Amino acid sequence: MAGEARISAMDKDYAGLIGRLRQRLGPGGILTDPVDTDPYCEDWRRLYHGRTPAVLRPASTAEVADAVRLCAATGAAIVPQGGNTSMVGGAAVSEDGAQIILSLSRMHRVRGIDPVDMTMEIEAGVTLRAAQLAAEEADCLLPLSISSEGSAQIGGVLATNAGGNNTLRYGNARDLVLGLEVVLPDGEVWNGLRRLHKDNTGYCLRQLFVGSEGTLGIITAAVLKLFPRPREVAVALCAVASPEAALRLLQSCQQHDPAAIQAFEYMSGAGMALVERFIPDAKPPLAAPAAHYVLLELATPRQGADLRGGLEELLGAAMEQGTVTDAVIAESGAQRAAIWKLREEHSEAQKRAGASVKNDIAVPVSRVPELIRRAAAVCERLVPGIRCVPFGHLGDGNIHFNLVQPEGADGDAFLARDHQLMDVVNEVVRDLDGSFSAEHGIGRLKPYMMPEWRGGAELELMRRIKAALDPAGLFNPGKLLPQ
Ligand code: MLT
Ligand code: ZN
Repeated sequence: MAGEARISAMDKDYAGLIGRLRQRLGPGGILTDPVDTDPYCEDWRRLYHGRTPAVLRPASTAEVADAVRLCAATGAAIVPQGGNTSMVGGAAVSEDGAQIILSLSRMHRVRGIDPVDMTMEIEAGVTLRAAQLAAEEADCLLPLSISSEGSAQIGGVLATNAGGNNTLRYGNARDLVLGLEVVLPDGEVWNGLRRLHKDNTGYCLRQLFVGSEGTLGIITAAVLKLFPRPREVAVALCAVASPEAALRLLQSCQQHDPAAIQAFEYMSGAGMALVERFIPDAKPPLAAPAAHYVLLELATPRQGADLRGGLEELLGAAMEQGTVTDAVIAESGAQRAAIWKLREEHSEAQKRAGASVKNDIAVPVSRVPELIRRAAAVCERLVPGIRCVPFGHLGDGNIHFNLVQPEGADGDAFLARDHQLMDVVNEVVRDLDGSFSAEHGIGRLKPYMMPEWRGGAELELMRRIKAALDPAGLFNPGKLLPQ
């Protein structure tokens, strides 16, 4: 069997380790045949193609802990994996076949929802979509929403401190976490599954693991904050003349009803054209294609709030002022979903359009228009014909300044210039007091940027934390910190 051939080609300790892991996890808890393991070895963007001797699939926290202990005893590195939707190779294994993947996908229980405390205790392998639906059934809202929510799992979402569409109202993933359960690199379990809104008892350990990208511990479960479910929702798609006009519209919304703004997303005409071209049944419901678009969503738990009436008034005034050139407000749930699809399918459309370089950038909200203009100019100078596709979370200043290869060009040659392209964009970002890493994380793609952006005491502090928790460097090696 091919799987056995691969194991025997490796250090023989691994064969022994895999035997012990199989004994502990049972036959359903470990995959070793490459036919089964290969899908775990390629990331969503298809940037990394690694190899692994085994994918572990523990079904409980105790099994995760024992698997980690067995690996630690052999000095085997572990790459934790959820939905494998990272944009930066955060869950990618190395090419040398020396790292073991630990998938959390069999830990998929919602352990409980308390509608009085407004909390949900949930295991790491539940998809974000399933978690949202479970909250909805309890008449609550789990407000985290990202394009990959159908596949992304809670453990990965927390390990990367995902942001997404609703950050401007509810914050990032870390703002929703009250408690965590984590398996540490030596196999010890930290049970911090508290559901307190106030708890100043020493260091805030849970926040150390949120955003640590699996380098300090494996999140196995969490207690998340829930919110009242919206009773009224209004979604509009607007054509605007420029990113500056989009920003003016955001300001109008903030003056109109700040508490109701749930999402404020920017899309370029170039990005929308790719969605129309590559995604079936996706077409903006406006009279003509525009150079820039805004998707805005207002929501409130208050019944009878007439959000729609207010929004009509707001957009009417914006049209008179020339801020908005055309707009449509969804009339039904199906229309709302169709408008959101235009936004959510941006990444998929770009993937189908060819090779792409992603810049996940945060700048002060007021500087987004300048970012878009200046970054496009430097990229177009460097690679004539490059397709700049800025889009994303204008409401919180996080723009995905994605770059798609010139039409018909060689994809590999384009990707070979990824560092060069990211570096020129990041020069602009630095100048605008921004960050090169907003919500996707550092992963395997960007640790090389860390010394420049987080040099000196900050990086040294991060290294000390890593060394204190994972002295043998066995958790997600090669991610987040430069080697
Ligand atoms: C999104 O907001 O859709 C993802 O974070 C985007 C990406 O492809 O960069
Ligand atoms: Zn995003």
